[in-house]
Amino acid sequence: MMEGLKFLLVFVVLALASSFASASDPSPLQDFCVAMKETDGVFVNGKFCKDPEQVTEKDFFFAGLNVPRDISSPVGSNVTAVNVAQIPGLNTLGISLVRIDYAPHGGLNPPHTHPRATEILLVVEGTLYVGFLTSNLAKGGNRLITKVLNPGDVFVFPVGLIHFQLNVGKTNAVAFASLSSQNPGVITIANAVFGADPPMNPNVLTKAFHLDKKLVEYLQKQIWTDNNN
Ligand SMILES: *[C@@H]1O[C@H](CO)[C@@H](O)[C@H](O)[C@H]1NC(C)=O
Repeated sequence: MMEGLKFLLVFVVLALASSFASASDPSPLQDFCVAMKETDGVFVNGKFCKDPEQVTEKDFFFAGLNVPRDISSPVGSNVTAVNVAQIPGLNTLGISLVRIDYAPHGGLNPPHTHPRATEILLVVEGTLYVGFLTSNLAKGGNRLITKVLNPGDVFVFPVGLIHFQLNVGKTNAVAFASLSSQNPGVITIANAVFGADPPMNPNVLTKAFHLDKKLVEYLQKQIWTDNNN
């Protein structure tokens, strides 16, 4: 009897806790809150809403995601984002989309994380080797979870975790992914660490990555191109 009550209490507390914690963007409090362009240097969590009477179909629209993108960058991939910056109507709705193009034979969407979104990816063309890393494990290390994907395959990258996609096929690859935020954010690991502006003290990187200081300084001089537009 006591055990049953305890269980119920724990259950209620957990249910309450999970309803307070928000796993993605907060829920909207109106039908829509189409982002306004000018904010006069004032920032809020999200964007200010346009007068609903002034809202048109253009605020919810984006065209051209059928067009292949330029994949000649050093990493051989190109991410076309369709988030609140492209579609103001996405403001407060907690969702966005990307198209990703990969060059044949090794086009790479390099290891990166989205601080504010889980991603669900659909391959429409080509063959991708994809994966993500877990958080640091209690027993040490990080588990790597990978899969080779073909057209029609869908894969999930949980919020915040480091993930990547590599084109292991002989043809171009194309994927579309939806993300659980109007503004998922992206941190490309190598770019952030070695291409930071201003640069990090090389001693930090030498020790953290077990690298020779000369190599760190060399890496810090590289041009770290961003494959996100
Ligand atoms: C991605 O493709 C677009 C259109 O093809 C191009 O304008 C842009 O420079 C490309 N971005 C990168 C990072 O290669």
